[in-house]
Amino acid sequence: MRKLMVVGNWKMNLTSSTASELAVQIRDGSTTNTNTVEVVFCPPAPYLKLVSGLIEGTSIGLGGQDVSGKGPGAFTGETAAEMLLDVGCKWTIIGHSERRTYHNETDSVINQKIKRAIQLGLNVFLCVGEKKEERQNNQTEALLEMQLNGAFTDLETSALERIVIAYEPVWAIGTGLVATNEQAEAAHAYIRSWISTRFGASVAGDMRILYGGSVKADNALGLLSQPNVDGALVGGASLDAKSFNSIIQSAADSSSTK
Ligand code: 13P
Repeated sequence: MRKLMVVGNWKMNLTSSTASELAVQIRDGSTTNTNTVEVVFCPPAPYLKLVSGLIEGTSIGLGGQDVSGKGPGAFTGETAAEMLLDVGCKWTIIGHSERRTYHNETDSVINQKIKRAIQLGLNVFLCVGEKKEERQNNQTEALLEMQLNGAFTDLETSALERIVIAYEPVWAIGTGLVATNEQAEAAHAYIRSWISTRFGASVAGDMRILYGGSVKADNALGLLSQPNVDGALVGGASLDAKSFNSIIQSAADSSSTK
């Protein structure tokens, strides 16, 4: 059985003091059995070390929000995989739609980042998802296929053990327009079938596919109960400890039905 995951993408929010408060409130407030649900925080880069110290000795994991596809050197403003590992990260997000949109990240850049992150020993949340027009034009699967083809170019099957896919429809991110349970399930099933065709049924069966886009305490259970939805990548609601802990609880509740 795939272990459910609930991941908080804090994006470019918080201060060192509010980030600490949030980390501690979630750490101490969650009563969920960590054998059932895996929890990861992705704070802004300047707070990684701070949050790392606060979750040390717990089962909560730490991830970067992005990573460079290059090795350490003259790349102003970038963060190397070595640096994420150095401050306690086991994870990094790659290919978030905000990186694709505001930083022109192409599938080939994303592929380079994935390869390097995995080579260095990080686990990856690979984000994919269609824009509103693409959904309206029935191009969701074509777009997902293109992004998956690009991201997985020249990847060995063994690399997939380190990858979790996050399906994040762009129109649902930060808009309150959450995908319906059926829309999420259909996209996740498509992604799993793509993985199965390319890498085999066993790899596809083990692959965790998270949903992201306006996940809140009141819609999490329905989404997480879908057979192909293995967790949530949460933006806005991850900044509120009560909401985030309630989403973690929904994941635990849904796992008993799978
Ligand atoms: P929201 O939960 O704020 O819609 O953000 C989703 C997201 O982009 C997570 O990576």
